[in-house]
Amino acid sequence: MKPKNTLITYATKHDSTKKCAEKLAEKLDKATIVNLKDEPNPDLSSYDTIIIGGPIYAGQMQKEVNTFCKNNLLQLKQKTIGLFICCMNDDQAELQLKKAFPEELYSLAIAKDSFGGEFNFEKMNFFEKIITRMIAKQKNSISKIHEDRILKFSNTIKKTI
Ligand SMILES: Cc1cc2nc3c(=O)[nH]c(=O)nc-3n(C[C@H](O)[C@H](O)[C@H](O)COP(=O)(O)O)c2cc1C
Repeated sequence: MKPKNTLITYATKHDSTKKCAEKLAEKLDKATIVNLKDEPNPDLSSYDTIIIGGPIYAGQMQKEVNTFCKNNLLQLKQKTIGLFICCMNDDQAELQLKKAFPEELYSLAIAKDSFGGEFNFEKMNFFEKIITRMIAKQKNSISKIHEDRILKFSNTIKKTI
């Protein structure tokens, strides 16, 4: 039988989504990672499973992920799909996750979760620092990546490959 291939596509501003994509890839036996900012149109034809991830800023998914989902919707609907977001507002995580992807992908995804995230002040611009201080009441960098959720997600994907 032909081996099944997994592609993890993601976008990031401050690299925490990249970190999560790499952690997830480590847990899957064979996965290719693509940053959609570097490679917006990856060839999907050789992959059976496609995992799409991105960070939430002001309630919105990164535009590279939106464009990728929109441009490839028909092809994506033929694949096994996993979806994840990185975000810091855990109370809003479920809502933000649902809003972040097209309804058709969200409903057919076999794994979907929020992996948490990070505030990285060294990578924020002036306005992002002000917003983070005002809205999240955070003054320092902090990491809240949920390793347990990444493990659970990877186990769900592994059951299908
Ligand atoms: C300016 C700014 C706005 C943000 N807005 C949200 C938000 O609306 N909801 C949320 O849950 N997290 C929000 N976050 C937290 C990010 O989703 C979190 O920092 C994430 O890990 C960033 O991912 P990245 O490092 O891959 O860019 C915001 C962070 C910043 C700096």
